[in-house]
Amino acid sequence: MTKILVTGGTGYIGSHTVVELQAAGFECVIIDNLSNSKLETLDLIEKISGQRPLFVRLDLRHKKELADFLEENQDIVAVIHFAGAKSVGESVTNPLKYYENNVGASVNLLQALQAAGVKNLIFSSTAAVYGEAEKIPVDETTPIQKPSSPYGNTKKMIEEIIYDVCVADEDFQAIALRYFNVAGAHESALIGELPSGIPANLVPFITQSAIGKLPPIKVFGNDYPTTDGYGVRDYIHVVDLARAHVAALRRLLEKENEMNWEFYNLGTGRGNSVKEVIDAFEKVNDVKLAYEIAERRPGDIAEIFTKTDLANEKLQWQAERNLEDILKSAWKWEKTLR
Ligand code: WQD
Repeated sequence: MTKILVTGGTGYIGSHTVVELQAAGFECVIIDNLSNSKLETLDLIEKISGQRPLFVRLDLRHKKELADFLEENQDIVAVIHFAGAKSVGESVTNPLKYYENNVGASVNLLQALQAAGVKNLIFSSTAAVYGEAEKIPVDETTPIQKPSSPYGNTKKMIEEIIYDVCVADEDFQAIALRYFNVAGAHESALIGELPSGIPANLVPFITQSAIGKLPPIKVFGNDYPTTDGYGVRDYIHVVDLARAHVAALRRLLEKENEMNWEFYNLGTGRGNSVKEVIDAFEKVNDVKLAYEIAERRPGDIAEIFTKTDLANEKLQWQAERNLEDILKSAWKWEKTLR
């Protein structure tokens, strides 16, 4: 079986991607420092797929351990790089943690891959690189702006670093996947999002508020220049996002005579407002939500969603789940948590 290294593979998107990689016949080896995920996720992946992924607890900032790991796993064909810190708010108050954890660790990984001769990389990037775009929906030709947070800036910087590596080494090929707003959980409700502390993101806040762990939802502004005044985003189901990684991996391993640096927007092509998300959650789960209108959140943009033509065509992939599927699966997952 073709062996794939998944950094951050016990995390939210990483674990869902490992499940889809296994279903597609790939062997996965996960490295993770478990700073924001749990070892028991390996048992849950095994419960879903019947295959227990290989696992090594490892921090990408430790160069020697990383080199030794690659020495012991010389059959790794490609890497999907999820590992990194991802809290927008924390990145504003503690930027150096983000530049060390995300940018520094990614440079270590790239150097180790170069030394080990691993030539295929998929990078977990973000729609935050678009900032407040002039034209909505965005697509891959939309100009990149300085993201509104150090978190988003680290992702933009890592994309640029990977691009420079691709220019320097034509045999190295990479795909960056720019995620829009990922949410939801595996249909088994065995794996899902495990936000540490109070969730910053809308959907996990909704489910925790609905189950009584959190107070009423604060809606950060309903005076935006959008159809109903609420913030609009492109919500993509985590399983659709995971399957896009398998599609991107297949492209990396199969394509010939193409650019060795590509990037794709991964969304659904639809925008939904916060109000639409709240209404849909109440309807699909038959649960009444309590919420109040609050001040806008600093750094928030009014609206973003993406065209998906490029990913549809080049990755032969498109999102198959809708907002209701996301909210149903998120609620089912929340109800399994203590
Ligand atoms: C969505 C909408 C809020 C919480 C962030 C990162 C992005 C990506 C996804 C990693 C907005 C509103 C939210 C709440 C609210 N992360 N909201 N009350 O900010 O679009 O994107 O997460 O890649 O990089 O920037 O996601 O879920 O925080 O907000 O009203 O309690 O919900 O204003 O309109 P966001 P979000």
